[in-house]
Amino acid sequence: MKTTVRLDDSIAEVLIEADVLQDRVKELGARLSVLYKDSVPILVGVLKGAAPFLVDLMRAMPIPLQVEFMAVSSYGRNTQHSGVVRILMDLVVGIEGRDVLIVEDIVDTGLTLDYLRSYLENQNPRSLRIVALLDKVEARRVAVPLDYVGFQIPNEFVVGYGLDLAEQYRNLPYIGILKALAVAEALRS
Ligand code: PRP
Repeated sequence: MKTTVRLDDSIAEVLIEADVLQDRVKELGARLSVLYKDSVPILVGVLKGAAPFLVDLMRAMPIPLQVEFMAVSSYGRNTQHSGVVRILMDLVVGIEGRDVLIVEDIVDTGLTLDYLRSYLENQNPRSLRIVALLDKVEARRVAVPLDYVGFQIPNEFVVGYGLDLAEQYRNLPYIGILKALAVAEALRS
């Protein structure tokens, strides 16, 4: 008989509980709603990782706004940054003259946001800000100005709430640190 695989069994430690995450996202949404009360900002979600954060954040912002997506990849199946940022899906709308908010799940080396920021800045938005749910300060290789941050976290490989290892674990409702065995298995398969 096939035993049911539970994602929780691969987690060594829950770093940020689901209710703590939700409370912080609501706080960020409230602050951003004040900031953008006189404009219709474009929230640019960076797929795939930022999807849950973007969805919860926009529901915590009861103001007129627009949601768009870009897909970027830098890690592939690895836990180490490749050093190369690839745009897999570009914006389908113009952002010139608009207030743009980049919505990211995590800033690690900073390479992704550094690239994305200058890419979008070149399209002449009226303003360009960044909100990141997680900030792994110790891992930074390039400085990126973050306007809003949910949580600063230690230099550990984390999964859940959008963050993956080899495309899995994004559906966990919390942020967790994987057991070493689970990492080894995912990288082997
Ligand atoms: C992750 C994450 C950020 C980026 C941060 O994306 O969603 O976009 O890495 O890392 P950095 O600061 O070191 O550049 P990933 O490339 O894993 O794609 P995904 O969102 O589809 O998982």
